[in-house]
Amino acid sequence: MGKRVDATDLGGVSATMMWTLRNRAVEASRPDGTLDDPLSVQLYETIDHPYENFGRPDQSHALRARAFDIEVRLFLAAHPGGTVVALGEGLQTSYWRIGDPDVRWLSVDLPDVVALRERLLPSEPNITTLAMSALDRAWMDYVDPDRGVFVTAEGLLMYLPAEDSLGLITDCARRFPGGRLMFDSVPKWLSRLTMKGFRITRNYTIPPMPFHLSPGEAARLPDWIPEIAFVREVSLPLGRGLWGSRTLRTVFDVPPMRNARFTLNLCGFAG
Ligand SMILES: C[S@@+](CC[C@H](N)C(=O)[O-])C[C@H]1O[C@@H](n2cnc3c(N)ncnc32)[C@H](O)[C@@H]1O
Repeated sequence: MGKRVDATDLGGVSATMMWTLRNRAVEASRPDGTLDDPLSVQLYETIDHPYENFGRPDQSHALRARAFDIEVRLFLAAHPGGTVVALGEGLQTSYWRIGDPDVRWLSVDLPDVVALRERLLPSEPNITTLAMSALDRAWMDYVDPDRGVFVTAEGLLMYLPAEDSLGLITDCARRFPGGRLMFDSVPKWLSRLTMKGFRITRNYTIPPMPFHLSPGEAARLPDWIPEIAFVREVSLPLGRGLWGSRTLRTVFDVPPMRNARFTLNLCGFAG
């Protein structure tokens, strides 16, 4: 990757990808790490950013990335040559972790992020990168749905207005019958905190997260959007220490705790 790259000016929601990159890379550099991702370590070591603003690293984003990888791999095993659309992909390196030579990969993010991605990540014949908002439905025209479509929105929908996120989910379901969409959602209490300005360290305030969806609400998406056939909650893989505690998992699976935590949602589209 060569010389160092300055991304100290990156702000707003785009800067959040440096947070998730840092957390994955720190995890991938540990001998007992829960993620195998040498490319994220290279990126992290190449890009200058005030990473300390995000506070101490934790396993959350590495485990979340693994949960997405597991579902994408399962989908590609059942749909060889299928298309993965990664909305708000940031500096995610899932394509290389998954390593499927037949996948067709569409990466969508805002122009300043795509510029960084194209500069720093290897170009691959199977990847098409689009510098546009995920809310601009033009990306849908680049998707060949013949061998199946799996859309990921990892760390994206919470940052968009609720009507935009729900509109995007609806339009994906209408446009890609038989496809899948996986996204993560935050609980209402966290959304509320971020709307008031939630500082996690002296120098970092999480951007507003207007869209929240609890597991109970996610389960009702098929009632609101008929083109969604089912929603399945995906569990985070177990990590180290508290992240590996089955007891804590059980506690957070009991209402009302269940509806007060983060959720990974896998939607299956009818058709
Ligand atoms: C928390 S980061 C997640 C990045 C990556 N998915 C990951 O898990 O590391 C949020 C990403 O969403 C992107 N983003 C924000 N608004 C967007 C929009 N309207 N369309 C596409 N991408 C957007 C940001 O640029 C950033 O890369």
